Amino acid sequence: MTRSAVVGALAGGLIGMVGSSLATPPSPTSIEQGRVLYQRHCAVCHGPEGRGDGQQAVSLSPRPGNLISAHTSAKTDQDLLKVIANGRPHTAMGAWKDRLSDDEQHAVLAYIRSLVRFTRSATPPPPAP
Ligand code: HEC
Repeated sequence: MTRSAVVGALAGGLIGMVGSSLATPPSPTSIEQGRVLYQRHCAVCHGPEGRGDGQQAVSLSPRPGNLISAHTSAKTDQDLLKVIANGRPHTAMGAWKDRLSDDEQHAVLAYIRSLVRFTRSATPPPPAP
């Protein structure tokens, strides 16, 4: 097996494992939908990989959260969906509930969670297609 096949299999296994423990496992399509939405709406602040290093990040106070940090990862889906829907007062994080449907908010969260899984892997993630 090639190295990238091994990485792919590992990542696939991880997603399968975590996914199956959720009530409604995110499907690959919703993660892909979330990726598109994230790149369009969120990456300017939160950065292309959720590290809180988007183009606008340097001019914001407080800085956008690092979405793949342990701090954020430890929060429940409910907590994070609430922030996405309503924004966070006194920060640049706005409310998305009028701009994204419930499904889209879930998809974007599924995408954020998928970033964490790849990052947690001991091996570097496969190059983006
Ligand atoms: C204008 C810049 C900006 C944009 C655009 C933005 N955010 Fe944020 N976001 C922030 C800031 C600032 C915070 C607050 C800092 C913090 O909570 O650590 C934040 C906080 C969050 C949090 C809470 C993190 C935590 O640990 O509680 C989540 C989740 C989040 N954003 C998701 C998103 C999603 C999803 C989008 C796109 C739909 C988005 N953000 C778009 C600036 C932005």
